[in-house]
Amino acid sequence: MTKTIVTGGAGFIGSHTCVELLAAGLEPVLVDDLRNSDERVLRGLAEITGRQPVLHRIDCGDADALDRVFAAERPGSVIHFAADKAVGESVQHPVKYYHNNIGSLVTLLRVMDTHRVKDLVFSSSCTVYGNSGQLPVTEESATGEAASPYGYTKVVCERLLRDASAADASLRAVLLRYFNPVGAHPSALIGELPIGVPNNLVPFITQAAAGLRDKLTVFGNDYHTRDGSCIRDYIHVVDLAKAHVLALQWIAKQKAPVCEVFNLGTGEGNTVLEAVRTFEEVSGVKVPYVIGPRRAGDVPAMYADTAKSLKVLGWRTQLTLADALRDAWRWQLALAK
Ligand code: NAD
Ligand code: WQD
Repeated sequence: MTKTIVTGGAGFIGSHTCVELLAAGLEPVLVDDLRNSDERVLRGLAEITGRQPVLHRIDCGDADALDRVFAAERPGSVIHFAADKAVGESVQHPVKYYHNNIGSLVTLLRVMDTHRVKDLVFSSSCTVYGNSGQLPVTEESATGEAASPYGYTKVVCERLLRDASAADASLRAVLLRYFNPVGAHPSALIGELPIGVPNNLVPFITQAAAGLRDKLTVFGNDYHTRDGSCIRDYIHVVDLAKAHVLALQWIAKQKAPVCEVFNLGTGEGNTVLEAVRTFEEVSGVKVPYVIGPRRAGDVPAMYADTAKSLKVLGWRTQLTLADALRDAWRWQLALAK
């Protein structure tokens, strides 16, 4: 079986991707120092897949340690999830973000080069589009105006990959721009593990519904949207995970060097208040909320044009926002057990 190094494989999106890789007959090898995840995920993965995943608990910015992993595992490809991802924290600690997010990619590319591994899928984000005037955003929409240091690390990493691939005709890279990943595996055995007070909407909703938070604050209801709250493209993490398998399979078919970008969203936007109402419908639980002021840096609306992912990768989402919120709630209930 071809091995795929999955950096950040114990994290939210990485763990769901490991499930889909195994289902597709690929063998994930996790590289994660668990700085933002937990060994519990390994038990969840084993239970879902019936296989005990291999984890190398190292910092993937540590070149010697990563080199040893490549030498031992001899992978055919890499999916690079490992990064710090909290937008607010990145404003407080920009150096930490530039160091980890850019440094780990630089190290990874050097180690891949040493071991002649050429196929790479990289986790990027819709944050690279900044406040795009044009909706839905296509892969050709302008980038570079990211509002936070976190967002800018993704802009830099994308540029780094384009430069590296222009200089190395054998590098085959796919850059996946995720919109708003939410939900959990339907088994409720793996999911998101926010540490402390969640910044993101869906974990906050589930924690508020579970009584762990006093109430949700809806950040603004005076935007020019259908109900005044912001619009986002919420994508089920299982749909997102499946796109990584298709991306690896697509890369493997390429004869020429590639560095290709894809949007991964549903193509539809939902408001914050719609997400709250949908959650209440699928869970049968009321979400205590108040309307608060706008949050600094929020764009009024963002959703993906997904035509390219469908046409080139043959990928389309199969799950709905209701599915994602139902699975997020199941996961929240499982965490409480
Ligand atoms: P996550 O924090 O759940 O997972 C990241 C994993 O990487 C964690 O397990 C963490 O321990 C690990 N990690 C971080 N730095 C590391 C390092 N130097 N060495 C080894 N392990 C390291 O995050 P996620 O939500 O699964 O995000 C995965 C990727 O997707 C990230 O690159 C993130 O920027 C990107 N992304 C996430 C979202 C989102 O909303 N979740 C949206 C767009 C893009
Ligand atoms: C969604 C909506 C909030 C919390 C972030 C990153 C982005 C990407 C995805 C990584 C917004 C509103 C939220 C709350 C609220 N991540 N909200 N009350 O900001 O769209 O995107 O995650 O790449 O880069 O910025 O996601 O979940 O924080 O917010 O009203 O307590 O929910 O204003 O409209 P966001 P989010």
